[in-house]
Amino acid sequence: MKIFIDTAEIEEIRQAASWGIIDGVTTNPSLIKAAVDRRRGEISMEDYVREIVKASPGPVSLEVIGRTAEEMTVQGRLLHEKFSPSGEVAVKIPINPSMNGEEEIEFEGLKAIRQLSGEGIRVNATLIMTPEQALLAAKAGAAYASPFAGRIDDYIRSGLGMRRGADFQKGDYFDHDLLGRARDSKIKEAMKDLSSIREIYQSETVNMLMAQGQDNGIRSGVDLIARILRIYRAYGFRTEVIAASIRNPRQVREVAELGVHIATLPFEVIRGMIRHYKTAEGMRRFMEDIVPQYQALFKER
Ligand code: E4P
Repeated sequence: MKIFIDTAEIEEIRQAASWGIIDGVTTNPSLIKAAVDRRRGEISMEDYVREIVKASPGPVSLEVIGRTAEEMTVQGRLLHEKFSPSGEVAVKIPINPSMNGEEEIEFEGLKAIRQLSGEGIRVNATLIMTPEQALLAAKAGAAYASPFAGRIDDYIRSGLGMRRGADFQKGDYFDHDLLGRARDSKIKEAMKDLSSIREIYQSETVNMLMAQGQDNGIRSGVDLIARILRIYRAYGFRTEVIAASIRNPRQVREVAELGVHIATLPFEVIRGMIRHYKTAEGMRRFMEDIVPQYQALFKER
């Protein structure tokens, strides 16, 4: 599995690159704005982006801001021309740039993906929330598809009436397994008084319970990624899946177990991956047991 770092902080990119664990970078306009703001006018945004591209050991995803295929294609070419001399750039195109159901622009992302990919520019199709969108991105020729695991977990939890910040925190692991078991046991209970399959199939309670804790059959962000991978493998699509919106190390483990091509991780998630209570305790014990004779092993002759 390749690891990208999901940040625009150059120091974070350099540090993670020095540990030898990252293969690329993903950014978005909000991350770049925050990072440049922190430099308080010391550097232009254009020079800053160039620095990011130079610091990265692999492709850097840069997002367009247009909403029509024409705008996104022009911007994608510009990003590619401007920044590719410093390294490899992948152009991030939203799978569907419509914000309020504007039907006329719903397929503009796909058109831009097709155009830029046809010109040999690598496209990262972003804001993917369904396997169906991922299928379309692959058909249009995207080099990468980025499903947003954490945001799907948020969405499923919000459907259960849970609020981020109050009932759970952004980095909290979403226990979809526990949720599934709870739902199954409630459904079993509701089925007790129903005698025929038709009654069960038509029961409002059963249907209401079935609909809870999922998004049109997607049980979690990790489940979304699993299904996309299954579809891509079934048809041999060459589009690589970037597990995005990853919020904690356990999600990283789960997408790694699925064999996802790439996971893009915030710096804090990478930090979390190296830590374990027993590792720190083991270190303390080893250090306590160091006797002078053992220390002497390290003296140069
Ligand atoms: C990746 O390309 C996205 O910018 C990012 O993963 C979104 O993460 P978030 O949902 O935690 O904001």
